[in-house]
Amino acid sequence: MNAKHDFIPQMRPLFGAPEKAELMAYLDEDGFFTEFERTAAFERAIAEFTGAKHCVVVNNGTVSLSLAALALGVGPGDEVICPNYTMIATPNSVKMLGATPVFVDVHASDLILRAEAVRAAITPRTKAVMLVSSNGRAPDATAFEALCRETGIALIEDAAQSLGSFYPDGRHIGRAGAIGSFSFSAPKIISTGQGGALITDSDELADRLRRLKDFGRARGGTDIHDSIGFNFKFTELQACVGLAQMRQLPERIVRKKQIWQRYADRLQGVPGVHLFQHDLLRCTPWFIDGRFERRDELAAHLKAQGIGTRTMYPPIHQQQAYGLGGSHPVSEAIGREGLWLPSMIQLSDAQIDRIGDAIRSFYGA
Ligand SMILES: Cc1ncc(COP(=O)(O)O)c(C=O)c1O
Repeated sequence: MNAKHDFIPQMRPLFGAPEKAELMAYLDEDGFFTEFERTAAFERAIAEFTGAKHCVVVNNGTVSLSLAALALGVGPGDEVICPNYTMIATPNSVKMLGATPVFVDVHASDLILRAEAVRAAITPRTKAVMLVSSNGRAPDATAFEALCRETGIALIEDAAQSLGSFYPDGRHIGRAGAIGSFSFSAPKIISTGQGGALITDSDELADRLRRLKDFGRARGGTDIHDSIGFNFKFTELQACVGLAQMRQLPERIVRKKQIWQRYADRLQGVPGVHLFQHDLLRCTPWFIDGRFERRDELAAHLKAQGIGTRTMYPPIHQQQAYGLGGSHPVSEAIGREGLWLPSMIQLSDAQIDRIGDAIRSFYGA
């Protein structure tokens, strides 16, 4: 086998004929590109899929979190509780508003916050919690909803990795929070290149989000402004791609689950390998994530065999951008041992088997 010509990347977005057809149809019909009917249709598709009353799309899944926090009244001097294991966009989104992210370690079994650990970090300045559903795994939403009701703290769900994943009560992840946020960046289950979406059941919050993303306009097509807003609007080109991708979501969910199951079967019982578990009835693994002994050596071994991997997020408190003290043992362990295996939708069974064999041979299993 020629590894160079047969390289398996860790991730690659999948765009093809359906996206091309949507884009060409739009170009034959209109040329404004600025958000309009295609964007509204994409928002409706996400609202319908998630069961939310409203969906508002924006440029990306970081700005979406900043807008969610702004709409819920987060500002300078406020504290927002964030997991210490997440993509750095989660805390940065509130840092941008002059608020202070307060980091709480995640649980070792699923890399998700627990309500009791969050309760211990609440101070009189706490304004919101960013609940991240890591890799599509469902948090204990009812515990967070109860905590937030009791304390008056806003619950924002960073569901960037969770399109296609549901809570045990049937709600889509992202619907337990006052606002839920999704990302459509290149590695996500559906992508618009860049893009983000906010869902909410509140008419008032939806209205605030729409104004915040559109210069504070009360309604489109006027230059009358009764509130401060910015420009975080979408484009029709992204919406065309998003509509085509949304039609493929059901089959992508099925395939992502098959991919996880095949890895789990191939890696069963390999000493030194610990894949994070998924309840496949409800949750869709976005990436294949796990803890691997001698992680960096394994990554080099796989690379030499033409297999790409990506190290999982380092603990945020130790990132130079934050440089905080404190001990967060779970996220610190992920910083040493966490690795994402190839996870793209177009991965074949034969490729998964090849990756499984390469990992088994590394550990002598
Ligand atoms: C948990 C989480 N939050 C936020 C983001 C940021 O999304 P975007 O890249 O669309 O800004 C990501 C992206 O990977 C993410 O995984």
